[in-house]
Amino acid sequence: MKAQHQFDSQTLMEQARNILRQNDRGGYTVPTERLYPYQWNWDSAICALGWQSFDEARAWKEIRMLLKGQWSNGMLPHIVFHQDSPDYFPNADVWNVSEACFPHGVEHPPTSGISQPPVLATCVRKLWEAGKQTSTEKGEVKLICEKILNWHRWFWSARDPENTGLVRVLHPWESGMDNSPAWDEPLARVPSTQNASYVRQDTSLIDAHQRPLQKEYDRYLYLVEILRDKDYDSRAISQDFPFRVIDVGLNSILQRANLDLKAMLDQFGMRSECQELEARIELTQNAFTKLWDPQHEHFYNRDEFTGELIRVPTSACFLPLFAGLAGNEQVSKMVSTLENWMDQKFLLVPSTAPDEPSYEPERYWRGPVWPHINWMICEGLSDYGFDDLSRKIRMQTLELISKLGFYEYYHPLGESGLGGSSFSWTAAVCLIWGNSTNFR
Ligand code: GLC
Repeated sequence: MKAQHQFDSQTLMEQARNILRQNDRGGYTVPTERLYPYQWNWDSAICALGWQSFDEARAWKEIRMLLKGQWSNGMLPHIVFHQDSPDYFPNADVWNVSEACFPHGVEHPPTSGISQPPVLATCVRKLWEAGKQTSTEKGEVKLICEKILNWHRWFWSARDPENTGLVRVLHPWESGMDNSPAWDEPLARVPSTQNASYVRQDTSLIDAHQRPLQKEYDRYLYLVEILRDKDYDSRAISQDFPFRVIDVGLNSILQRANLDLKAMLDQFGMRSECQELEARIELTQNAFTKLWDPQHEHFYNRDEFTGELIRVPTSACFLPLFAGLAGNEQVSKMVSTLENWMDQKFLLVPSTAPDEPSYEPERYWRGPVWPHINWMICEGLSDYGFDDLSRKIRMQTLELISKLGFYEYYHPLGESGLGGSSFSWTAAVCLIWGNSTNFR
């Protein structure tokens, strides 16, 4: 039986397709015009799945364009600066990545010097398995997988030098959840930049109360400066580097990506690479138990500087669901937390728990709902058999988008769409869901 919903799905899908077309800059998709005028790593992976629903060849192009920014050590940067733009700070000149980071003799676009959550392998697997495979040959997909494997290996060595099974982030931007209150304590120990003359562009485009505070931005910039001074070489980054955090979200996404990559490499008969992935998957699985707090019954991020869990529940704390990293009791606790918020009339999933002192329903990553995080949480819930809750979150999110427009994020009481408008991954998530569920 078809469930009732409050929106016209045909119109919603047509609008979503138009947003991707409008944000297409010739083979890659900007998250939205002006506010984010370049190619962002995890945005693009998700956009590729959106494109796949109506233009498979264009979806593969998105991935090729992203991989053009890959470094010779495997790192896949969080931003690829294909063309210059006056609208964004910090631009390629500020990152100032040395030519030596890139493969010798290969033409490449400038990039940032840190990475982002590696959802790419998961998206490539979905593209590959659902696609008609007319435009992209098996050989090319194998090559793409090899590049992704090199990226994952970079995470393991550069961000987990002690081989613990959990990778760290060295900048809040690397987590993709830039302004999460989970980073407040570690960020407080980071000095501010001495550069008093830089000009943020974001607050001239979006209301400042929806964006990070100036004191946070000054610290973000300081971290860029010290990473740049060390040529982004993780071996030169010592134990006293001020911001070192185990992000439960990124680690879950990486675990899921390792599983998806392994499934693809298996199809290509790459035995030893599969074994390598298997070993890493097991290591991470074991290490994850240390991120669960049995007293508060939550997965938490961990501050590597102090070794302590950061007891601030955020939407990232539900992402272990996406990677099969939660045991049955942990899953039921997560489900009851979500249901409890829903009973209190919060739309799921707020980026910060609504009962946290740091909860701010309109500020970037401190409360609002992000559709692409919901997509991952819904996948996880369905994998664990919670189809009903997954469907509710999906329908709520689609209704929100249909009512308010394709925003970057949303007030968890459904009052407003916030941040950038005509947002690409919001459109992509509609298309992904439209493709697979027919809105049931
Ligand atoms: C913001 C988000 C980041 C995203 C980017 C482009 O910086 O925090 O996760 O990739 O915008 O949408």
